[in-house]
Order: sequence, then structure tokens, then C-alpha cells
Amino acid sequence: MARQKTIFVCQNCGYKAPKWLGRCPDCSMWNSFVEELTEIGDQDRRRRPHLLDTPQRIDRVAIDKELRHKTGLREFDRTLGGGVVPGSLVLIGGDPGIGKSTLILQVVHRLAQQGLRTLYISGEESVQQIKMRAQRLSADSSELYLLSGTCLEDVIDRLDELTPRIIVVDSIQTIFTESLSSAPGSIGQVREVTSRLMNLAKGSNRALFLIGHVTKDGAIAGPKVLEHLVDTVLYFEGDGSHMYRILRSVKNRYGPTNEIGVFEMMDNGLEEVGNPSRIFLEERATDVSGSVVISCMEGSRPLLVEIQALVCSSSLAIPRRTTIGVDPNRVSLLAAVLAKRGGVHLSDKDIFINVAGGIKIDEPAIDLGIISTIASSFLNKPIARNTVTFGEVGLSGEVRGVSQAELRLKEAVKLGFSRSLLSKKSIQTLKRKMDIELIGVSSIQELLEVLF
Ligand code: TYD
Ligand code: MG
Repeated sequence: MARQKTIFVCQNCGYKAPKWLGRCPDCSMWNSFVEELTEIGDQDRRRRPHLLDTPQRIDRVAIDKELRHKTGLREFDRTLGGGVVPGSLVLIGGDPGIGKSTLILQVVHRLAQQGLRTLYISGEESVQQIKMRAQRLSADSSELYLLSGTCLEDVIDRLDELTPRIIVVDSIQTIFTESLSSAPGSIGQVREVTSRLMNLAKGSNRALFLIGHVTKDGAIAGPKVLEHLVDTVLYFEGDGSHMYRILRSVKNRYGPTNEIGVFEMMDNGLEEVGNPSRIFLEERATDVSGSVVISCMEGSRPLLVEIQALVCSSSLAIPRRTTIGVDPNRVSLLAAVLAKRGGVHLSDKDIFINVAGGIKIDEPAIDLGIISTIASSFLNKPIARNTVTFGEVGLSGEVRGVSQAELRLKEAVKLGFSRSLLSKKSIQTLKRKMDIELIGVSSIQELLEVLF
């Protein structure tokens, strides 16, 4: 195959140069040049399927009943929005060693067991190494094919022979195309390989899973540069020291986002955690100050987690606000609101906040919980153990309602909580009577009165 012509393009302003440049002569941006193909070679044009039809009236478009392949791993299916959609491109990103290869092997094994021919392409491990892992996971379906290789053109040739329905590429950073001269893993390579694979998947209605390592900034491109290209982006995260892993959907063209699936890493692979709230609350200490349970939403699912705070005298000129699992800026803001509106003086105190279980929460409904636990630690008074709380707090100390109050309360009732602190507004939105004592608060002052 003749080498196709490539060009280096500044990603900031679009300036084109025949060679790589460290700094763009036009916009003066450093390190912005990425290799791209100038024109599509004949060979590629033949391969690329024509997706464009004549325009159709929307009310005349016939759709088949939505087909999804269920894997049987319920946490995984739910995160995807109900199963794997044929012809979709799913990117699974995560830190190296978090368990991406393990997860995908378990997933494709289940799909292969249903008779869907699957090809697992690995650029990182040999076929024997994958087999060894598969043995631990008892994933040895006869429809699961393994291929070790890194050259995209070679891989595509193999696809024609095997005609798999499901393709896995582990990882996208190790596969390269001969048509670009840049190194495997560079932005240009990763993008070009992905778009070629995407055309291939869409054209033949195959589902494609791409694994991508999240990397520190540098020569290797991370999954971020691919997010706009693919249909679904899942991140596999979790604290390395915790056994729990969380699969989170951040983009999904075929389902809701922010959905999470929870897994536990065991000796023989990942196991589903059906009721994560119970696990996150399992090791809660009794009657200590600076601990409260909040009910937050992760996608369509309510989740109860414990938030811990430690407030202690600071020896620093600027006291510390250290957080794990929540945004430190939010904590600084809430500490300021608590000082100004609640009269709790924190200007000479270090504040540490931790969300137990290694989960990250990014939802305003956590505000009331953070304020309660900071106040509890400051006053050294425990919050009643049977209390669950949620609500947003504004700068003037007002407590606001949040969405899905009913679902959040239901989860709390299920786990045996008997008292709930929430905004008055949220109580008004409830349509049914809940089997839990509801205490409405509209400001921080009221909160502090009912808490202690
Ligand atoms: P892996 O799937 O190789 O991670 P990634 O593909 O994201 O880089 O998983 C690596 C870790 O998982 C490794 O530290 C060992 C652990 N592990 C188990 O604890 N149990 C198992 O059954 C397997 C297969 C892996
Ligand atoms: Mg791997």
C-alpha cells in the first residue's frame, strides 16, 4: 500500500505544516501539532461504507424494535442503558490496572456464550496471557476469539475472515495505522484508528468496545480526545486501595448518563454489587461526631453514602480544606456560609472531608450533609445515627429543594433510616406518605437547631 500523504495541523488555529513544529507560527501555541491524513486513499474509500441515504420524512422512518444484547451482568447492562446496542462504539476509560481488561473479558465471555461471535484484539498482552486471565475468570466460550496485534491494517484483514459481531480493542493506545508516521498512542494515531474502526462498526452493525488508559498529559493521548467520536463513554474508577470499582457512564447516545454500576474485585474477577448503599455504610462507626449519611442520586439510582468531617485547630496561616470524593471549592464555600450564617467560626480550623468507600460525588444535594458534618465535628456532637439528609445550600444560608426526593427517601427507608432532614420545598413535592420522619428546614440556623 502506498504511504498516504499526511500533514501536521495546529489543533488550536488549524495552521497546516508539512513537518511537525514545536510552536505554531500563526497562533504561537506550543505543542499543538497533530499528524492528520490529507486525503483518503482509494483503498480506504472502497472500504468506507456509504452511510448517506436520501432524506426521509421523520414520520415515515421505520424503526426495528430496539435490539440490545443483554450481557447478564446487571450492573454493566444498566450502566449501558439496558444492554449492548449493535453498531455502537463504546469507550471504556480508566487508570492502568483498575480492571478494564478483566471487566471486558467477563462481558464478552457472556456475549459469546449467547452465540455472538466475539474478537478480542489485544495490543498489550499475548494470546496466552489473555487465556491465563480467562481461566481465572472461567471465561472460555468457544465463540470468543483472541488476537494479539498492533497494526490496524492487519487487524482489519482478520475481521473479514472471522466476521465477529462484537469487537474489543484493548487498548486503543497500542494500535497504530500504517498511514500515519507518528508513534502509536499519539493524538493523530488514536483519532485516526478510532474513526476507521467506527466506520467499520457502523457499516456492518457490529458493536465495538475500545479500552483507553487515562494518562497524565504527555505524548500519549487519553480517552478524552475520543469522547466526541464514540457513542458511549464509560469510566471505570475506584480507589486503588479499595476493593470496589465503579463503572460510570459520562456520555451515552442510547441511554441515560451518570448511571453507575458497582463491582467488587475478587480473586476470580469482578463481582456485581447489587446493593451498594449497604456496602458503603457497612463499617460506620457508632456515635462519633463528624459523620452523617446522605442520599445522593447516581444516574437513576439513589445511593446512600457516609460523609465524614474532621475539624481541628490549624497551625497554618491559611488553614487547610482537604477533601476526598467532593469538590474542595464547594467545601470552602460551604464552610464560609456556615461561618457567616450559622455563626460557626472556622477561620482558624483545618477541615478534612472524606466520602467513605472511595466514591466521588458531584451533586449539590450533598451540601446539607457537608454542612451538618462540619458542624458536628466542630461542636464535637454526634448526629443521630438513624438520620439521613440531602439538600442544596445557597450563599445566604437558605436550604433548597433537590430533584427526586421520593426516590432518595425510599432508599433510606429500605436501609432502615427513620429520620430525614431535607428542605421544606422537597417535602412539598412528595406525592406519597413516606415511612420516615420528615424534618423540613429552610435555613442553616434551623438546621443547627434541629441537629443538636
Ligand atoms: P486489569 O484488568 O489487567 O487492569 P487494566 O486492564 O485496567 O489495566 O486488572 C488488573 C488488576 O486486577 C490486577 O492488579 C490484578 C487484579 N485482578 C484481581 O484481583 N482478580 C482477578 O481475577 C483478575 C483477573 C485481576
Ligand atoms: Mg489491560
